[in-house]
Amino acid sequence: MSKPFPNSIFLSGNFAPWPMEGDIHDLVVEGEIPRELAGTFFRNSSNPQFAPGPNYHWFEGDGMIHSLRIEDGKAHYKNRFVRTARFEAERLAGEALFSGMGPSEPDPRIEGVSPNASNTHVLFHAGKLLSLWEAGPPHELDPSTLETIGIWDYAGEFRRERMGAMQPDIMTAHPKIDGKTGEWIGFGYSPMAPHLVYHEVSKEGKLTRSDELDVPFSAMMHDFIVSAEHAIFPVFPAVFDFAAMAETGSPLSWQPERGVQVGVLPRNGVPEDLVWISHDPCFSFHMVNAVSEGNTVVAELWETPRLVFTPDEKTRPSAPNLHRWTIDLDAGTVKDEKIDDSPGEFGRIDERYVGYDYTYTWSLGSIGIPGMDGSPDGFNSIFRYDRKTGSRVAHTLPEGDSFGEPVFVPRNEAAAEGDGFVLTVAHRRAEDRSDLIILDAQNIERAPLAICQLPHRVPYCFHGSWMPAE
Ligand SMILES: [Fe+2]
Repeated sequence: MSKPFPNSIFLSGNFAPWPMEGDIHDLVVEGEIPRELAGTFFRNSSNPQFAPGPNYHWFEGDGMIHSLRIEDGKAHYKNRFVRTARFEAERLAGEALFSGMGPSEPDPRIEGVSPNASNTHVLFHAGKLLSLWEAGPPHELDPSTLETIGIWDYAGEFRRERMGAMQPDIMTAHPKIDGKTGEWIGFGYSPMAPHLVYHEVSKEGKLTRSDELDVPFSAMMHDFIVSAEHAIFPVFPAVFDFAAMAETGSPLSWQPERGVQVGVLPRNGVPEDLVWISHDPCFSFHMVNAVSEGNTVVAELWETPRLVFTPDEKTRPSAPNLHRWTIDLDAGTVKDEKIDDSPGEFGRIDERYVGYDYTYTWSLGSIGIPGMDGSPDGFNSIFRYDRKTGSRVAHTLPEGDSFGEPVFVPRNEAAAEGDGFVLTVAHRRAEDRSDLIILDAQNIERAPLAICQLPHRVPYCFHGSWMPAE
């Protein structure tokens, strides 16, 4: 018999896992789903199948994929766990075996079992739907059934010796797909050497490059930024410090005296071309996009003064704000401007412009929530930023409701930048269930084009993406 879940902010409200896998044919829809919209919206959520230990963190749950397939004006829902080796070992044992990030003795039943929870992102590239986790390889899924096919190691090419054994290598959960070339630009980071490896995958899905890069110190690297010419690795001072773990309970130590070290690698260069530029201490989980003009790179990202990994009464997290970095490669400087006082996160663009000059960003936003500290509960709005005019418009939900990450879908392949739809899953607190909301991307402040009603709750997801119908 399963044990009850412990008390934790990461296991209550809309963080709480959803235990069921299922299918819903033809959701009730308010409004009208645009007929041009044909494809599937995938989301990945952290969703522990068994009661975890008392120090559970939101980042540690089993991946659960939620799909919303849209066709002929109808929406259909499906959700499945990602069947990782970890998931199967725990299913066999009938209880959680992985203890999480704090110090503990490993359970002998997990010897040789990867901790890969595959819970962070899901995206479609080169004919494969891949579920991603930042400390291990992707898992391939069947886009129709959500069945887990297995670890994807790029036809055996994506392997590296780590900890004395050849194994599938590590791929970030935040690759960038070049908006013009279709190349997958990624990296893997690890507290164990090699600490940083740069990866490129062709539009056709072939691994074309894996280069080990030197880093100034070993830190958490959740995301990075890519322009047409450069790959940019901001190394924030959230440093791996296992010696301090027994005292702090976390493998990460905040060391602001190290500052931020921004690595800039020319995409057509070699590892020796990597340069490091120092910046004042700050932290960012997510970046939006970058544009190179000669020896200047302009990038936007969600920035906080520091990382607070586990909120408690002494250290509250702070909500991120949208910032613009102007990286001057000749002067070796980073100019950092805050461009919105309202909190936001999870900015997405028209992905045909990843790495190139762009105008629009759609993001989570927060308006009028006192004490907003970056919790998903407080993101009651979707923002649309116009980078060229500096304007921002918002769509704000009724009190108590909150949005998930918005994803832009172009109206068709030939549509102008930003002409299309924004898809997002909202949590309705009073009814404790969720809706798929479809907004007109150029008029997000207006009433939704369609609200596809789910009878149940989709827990807060991290990331997801759109796969167009063939
Ligand atoms: Fe992320």
